[in-house]
Amino acid sequence: MKKMRNMPINQLFNRRKFIKLTGLGVGAGVFGLQQIGCKGERRFAQPDIHGFEEAQDNPDASKGWVPVSDRKIRVGLVGYGVCRFSAAFGFQDHPNVEVVAVSDLFPDRCAKLAEVTKCKKTYPSLEELVKDDKIEAVFVATDAPSHMKHCIEVLKHGKHVASAVPAVFGSLEEADKLFDAVKKSGMKYMMFETSCFREDLYAMRQIYKAGGFGKLVYTEGEYWHYSEKGIGSYNNWRHGMPPQWYPTHSDAYYVGVTGGSFTEVSCLGMPSLMERYQEGNNRYKNPFGTEISLYRTSEGGMARMGRSSDTPGGHEFLEDGRVRGERGSFYEKYEGLEKNLPDLTRPPLPPGVSAGGHGGSHGRLTDEFVTAILQDRKPLVDIATALNMTVGGIVAHQSALKGEEWMKIPQYNL
Ligand SMILES: NC(=O)c1ccc[n+]([C@@H]2O[C@H](COP(=O)([O-])OP(=O)(O)OC[C@H]3O[C@@H](n4cnc5c(N)ncnc54)[C@H](O)[C@@H]3O)[C@@H](O)[C@H]2O)c1
Repeated sequence: MKKMRNMPINQLFNRRKFIKLTGLGVGAGVFGLQQIGCKGERRFAQPDIHGFEEAQDNPDASKGWVPVSDRKIRVGLVGYGVCRFSAAFGFQDHPNVEVVAVSDLFPDRCAKLAEVTKCKKTYPSLEELVKDDKIEAVFVATDAPSHMKHCIEVLKHGKHVASAVPAVFGSLEEADKLFDAVKKSGMKYMMFETSCFREDLYAMRQIYKAGGFGKLVYTEGEYWHYSEKGIGSYNNWRHGMPPQWYPTHSDAYYVGVTGGSFTEVSCLGMPSLMERYQEGNNRYKNPFGTEISLYRTSEGGMARMGRSSDTPGGHEFLEDGRVRGERGSFYEKYEGLEKNLPDLTRPPLPPGVSAGGHGGSHGRLTDEFVTAILQDRKPLVDIATALNMTVGGIVAHQSALKGEEWMKIPQYNL
């Protein structure tokens, strides 16, 4: 759904109309859900927010799926905000999962989350839910500024944790704290970066591993998400946020393909015309609605990663990327020197689990997390990868504020 380049013109028109409607804005914080229309008759009616368009379910999607265990992991789901996120990844349908309890701070959201996931037990907060000894793993789909604190709370109670993006919000100290907490706990941590299971990025990763690119010389990624009035959020965390504090959908096109990192950055911003991006109008003192980063990569290559929320038109919602390597490139498809490509088909889905939104990535992220626990192995987006995908943007914003100064980026390795 992310690519609009080849869309018939009438579909493009409808999409633009849709963007206009959703751009009308939601009451920040409180009951955003009532103010954004929900699309159609979906199983868990998702809000009209871009990226939530579900992939067409393929009847053969489960073909070849082999259970690794008959055990059910006992899971808690937390966070049913504007994006209704904790219900959107199919935990409740996974054959190796029992959803034991759910939570959201707002009683009506909590009740709805329990209803759509058919779960009987609710807790008034994550802090109460994690005390439940029955629960082995928690999906933290709360507001981004709380991810670090909430994930550490889960780990402290001896449970595995999956986190919505970004891993941390605007703070390098938080990144170090989370890294140490995960290492110390010995539990599994996975960040649910949706780009990592998009069809193209998945293919790029397989080709990279098979040597079809060699080293990546140049990568481009972008996350464009124009919004006229902004999208609602708990305590208004989205309002005027520095664009590069939410960098993972684009940065995944390097870090999620290679497993590498960014080592240095110079980032450019342009003062925005939009009201919420005026320095005095947001708590972040952020003047930018668009920030463009140039990174040095850990392989010695270059990457350009773009984030924009204040530029209408021209693929105004797009999560995309492409790579150029020493032996081949991927620009919608592979072209290069490697003639024997590996299997590029994404892994099958467990029976009953929908591919879900963001390019059919949701169900696969859940299956990866659950399987990593069952097999006691590293999940695909582990803590080091998650932080390497997140902290480049934090330093990038500092660089933009300092007039594009080149700055070093902390590195995370397990
Ligand atoms: N493509 C993607 O990966 C993607 C897309 C959309 C959103 N997200 C991420 O998903 C997360 C959720 O997004 P949203 O728009 O629904 O957020 P939101 O701010 O609208 O909602 C957050 C919810 O968390 C709940 N919450 C906060 N603290 C809690 C606590 N201690 N206990 C229980 N509940 C608590 C709040 O009550 C609120 O309902 C965000 O982190 C966002 O960054 C990722």
